[in-house]
Amino acid sequence: MGNNNIEGKVVVITGASSGLGEAAARHLSAHGASLVLGARRADRLQSLARELTERGGRALAIETDVTHCDQVKRLVDMAVQTFQRIDVMINNAGLMPQSLLERLKIDEWDRMIDVNIKGVLYGVAAALPHMQSQKSGHFINVSSVAGHKVRPGGTVYSATKHAVRVISEGLRQEVKPYNIRTTVISPGAVDTELPNTITDPVVAENMRKFYDDIAISPDSFAQAVAFAMSQPPDVDINEILYRPTRQEF
Ligand SMILES: NC(=O)c1ccc[n+]([C@@H]2O[C@H](COP(=O)([O-])OP(=O)(O)OC[C@H]3O[C@@H](n4cnc5c(N)ncnc54)[C@H](OP(=O)(O)O)[C@@H]3O)[C@@H](O)[C@H]2O)c1
Repeated sequence: MGNNNIEGKVVVITGASSGLGEAAARHLSAHGASLVLGARRADRLQSLARELTERGGRALAIETDVTHCDQVKRLVDMAVQTFQRIDVMINNAGLMPQSLLERLKIDEWDRMIDVNIKGVLYGVAAALPHMQSQKSGHFINVSSVAGHKVRPGGTVYSATKHAVRVISEGLRQEVKPYNIRTTVISPGAVDTELPNTITDPVVAENMRKFYDDIAISPDSFAQAVAFAMSQPPDVDINEILYRPTRQEF
């Protein structure tokens, strides 16, 4: 393991095909980590893995839908098979199709629960047995400012992000015997493809304006991940909540 506590680590990232996951992959690869990238858009994952490899890094792209437990298990098992271990599991895949409850977009509620909550649990299920037997590991779960607050239109999304924090805190307490660290990262508005998941035209337009106005670079997330990872092994950063300086909510 290198001096920065990043070099040489094996890091699995779900939702690595764009936005926060992609930014974290680039940053960690540049600092010497081995990356295992999961998401559904295999073409984007593969070109990212190719780019990181051409720059001298180690990266593997594995098409993964986090709503399928067996696919998440395969992603993590492939990481362990290829690189002999898993040091960090970044449960990042998520979507945010916001709308008022009265619109009854039940399919979108289901989708958010499946990806944002069950996807994280499947990531835990896939990585925990390996980390237990290694007696080391680090979960980094992505929540949101919406995991601390709720406002109209964001009810189900906020519920899923609150759930991520609760799951992470329960996990933190349960994995003490195995020397496993747990970090929740809760970003504010960051410039990614996330607002594209909104189908309600009015909410989408408002969100786009909000993001155009204040969203900050996904590099902010990469820096937060690197900060948590680079602590000495006996230091466990449990939550990072950050926003654009101009963000009120
Ligand atoms: N951007 C923000 O302002 C912000 C703020 C707070 C929290 N977050 C959280 O940050 C995380 C990443 O979002 P982002 O902002 O980077 O948005 P993004 O650019 O839309 O990225 C979302 C990622 O999740 C993946 N994904 C979606 N459904 C998936 C599935 N079923 N299986 C596997 N991967 C799936 C997408 O890949 P594929 O489509 O290729 O599968 C994509 O790589 C999310 O959990 C989001 O809630 C973002």
